[in-house]
Amino acid sequence: MFEEAQLYAPVTRSEGGDVTVHLSDGHPGAVDPEYRARRNALAALAMEWQPGTPPPAATYTEAEHEVWQIVCGELHGLHERLACAVYLDGKQRLGLPESRIPQLVEVNDLLLPLTGFRYVPAAGLVPLLEFYGSLADGVFHSTQYVRHHSVPLYTPEPDILHEVVGHGNCLAHDRFARLYRLAGAAARRVQTTEALEFVSKVFWFSLEFGVVRERGEVRCYGAGLLSSFGEIQQVARADLRPLTIARMGVQTYDITHYQPILFCGDGFDQVEDVVGGFFADVDDDQVQRLLREVTARA
Ligand SMILES: [Fe+2]
Repeated sequence: MFEEAQLYAPVTRSEGGDVTVHLSDGHPGAVDPEYRARRNALAALAMEWQPGTPPPAATYTEAEHEVWQIVCGELHGLHERLACAVYLDGKQRLGLPESRIPQLVEVNDLLLPLTGFRYVPAAGLVPLLEFYGSLADGVFHSTQYVRHHSVPLYTPEPDILHEVVGHGNCLAHDRFARLYRLAGAAARRVQTTEALEFVSKVFWFSLEFGVVRERGEVRCYGAGLLSSFGEIQQVARADLRPLTIARMGVQTYDITHYQPILFCGDGFDQVEDVVGGFFADVDDDQVQRLLREVTARA
């Protein structure tokens, strides 16, 4: 699998119906039986969910609500300083609660009237084509768990803070929502695994880890940066490259470390032109042409 997909803890269901989330040994919650039990229960909740019904309500502890509050508080000032204007606008429009974890159904009540996007629950990893393809329909698959309370500013896997604070504030703005829908249509249009991987890498280096220059400053528009207390502060040290689709689609990276290479747009308009234009037009032939272009220049 590609990118973010590799980060999700595997989820299995036994013949008897017991759902287990397999946290890695180094996961901060791995030795907390209460946390593990709640993770299993949340995964089971998502697996029992029926499409067409509202997302199920998750139960959170006071410690977990506090994690949300701490992270939102820390990100608040960082967003003001480092987020792009369109994201800040989306964040203001959505108006998520910052003192407690919202239920997905509450997020939907806020988000649907703005851009038509809605959240559905995910137990963990959603197959790549299903995850991206659903974006074309205005559907975002989201986990409901929150990181372990012992390290509120770190998570080894995407949690509801990433899904909702990172992506949700983007999805609240029609300019972002259009890009996400185009990405979903692109994923459905291409036929080969190679082309789908190319599309997913462009998504990774734009809607997950993209930056733009605004009034002479580097600002973030990628949800992975905007939801990460640590990584958003490393952007100033990144090697910034021009917004070149052929390069983005083949750029390698290590998902376990901060991204050393980021692709920087010259304003959000350019992101819409270059990345949005790519998502709108891409097909298998175009991916092959772009791959040949990179090989020829190497
Ligand atoms: Fe993400």
